[in-house]
Amino acid sequence: MNRILITGATGHLGRLVVNKLKQKISPERIVALVRSAEKAADIGLGVEIKEGDYNKPETLNQAMKGIDILLLISSSEVGKRAEQHKNVIDAAKQAGVKRIVYTSLLHADTSSLSLAEEHVATEADLKASGIAYTILRNGWYTENYADSIQGALASGAIIGSAGEGKISAATRADYADAAVIVLTTEGHEGKTYELAGDESFSLRELAAEISRQSGKDISYNNLPEEVYAAQLVSFGLSEELARAIAGWDLGIAKGDLFDESHQLSKLTGRPATPLAAFVEKAVKS
Ligand SMILES: NC(=O)c1ccc[n+]([C@@H]2O[C@H](COP(=O)([O-])OP(=O)(O)OC[C@H]3O[C@@H](n4cnc5c(N)ncnc54)[C@H](OP(=O)(O)O)[C@@H]3O)[C@@H](O)[C@H]2O)c1
Repeated sequence: MNRILITGATGHLGRLVVNKLKQKISPERIVALVRSAEKAADIGLGVEIKEGDYNKPETLNQAMKGIDILLLISSSEVGKRAEQHKNVIDAAKQAGVKRIVYTSLLHADTSSLSLAEEHVATEADLKASGIAYTILRNGWYTENYADSIQGALASGAIIGSAGEGKISAATRADYADAAVIVLTTEGHEGKTYELAGDESFSLRELAAEISRQSGKDISYNNLPEEVYAAQLVSFGLSEELARAIAGWDLGIAKGDLFDESHQLSKLTGRPATPLAAFVEKAVKS
């Protein structure tokens, strides 16, 4: 009976993966790595909870004992991630983990997004580790636009700096399904999957979809990067995050988050969640 450890199990994606995995395999085979066991109280009967912090290698060495397959969900601590992920990979190697599945970024090797650098470093560390690996290069979460949709319903506009760039987004549940397939089936060793939605939309098309579903007139205001960042700061975001988000939009304008290879739906065997379904839920909420 091989055992599968999921990192980031108290996060949005990690929770979905653990829940979906529980529907496929016995919970005794699932181990959830969490920073705080308290936060994991609702993760579910039968799933083993292990505490571990990416910044504390000794906790990772302990957690990795007896694990066969590891899903390393990329850390949310941008700027520290390459080192944190290396700690996880080193601990996995020491414990004799047989396979690592890693959530990276769509087209990480060619992407101009500031987020790509740490993913590229981790992909290289994985390949150098000698452990069998699978890389899931996840595209944008459709959920990234949940706040924008609510903002648009209140203000009448989507704002951004993405120009007419297309985003091939999918929901976290779609990416979680792909992760579960890769964790529980054979034949994924050494593969890198570019995972993205089946549909691609520009922010103007997102605005049009919100208009269609809400009956309100929603426009898309494309702003210069600096102006968009300043707007985000005025909404309460830190200067650093606002600059990063505005910068990612420039990457979107260049096509960094566009992909029409449909590898996600080919893996899961079902279409990715359409934008219209996500917007419908958001408009009704
Ligand atoms: N593709 C996209 O559009 C997109 C968008 C956002 C993020 N991401 C990436 O995808 C990952 C998963 O997304 P998500 O929505 O599930 O993010 P999330 O909800 O922020 O979850 C991040 C997880 O990482 C854990 N974590 C952070 N620092 C840690 C540390 N030092 N040691 C151990 N665990 C640590 C968090 O633990 P706690 O619960 O204790 O905080 C949490 O469980 C993110 O971490 C990020 O790398 C992708």
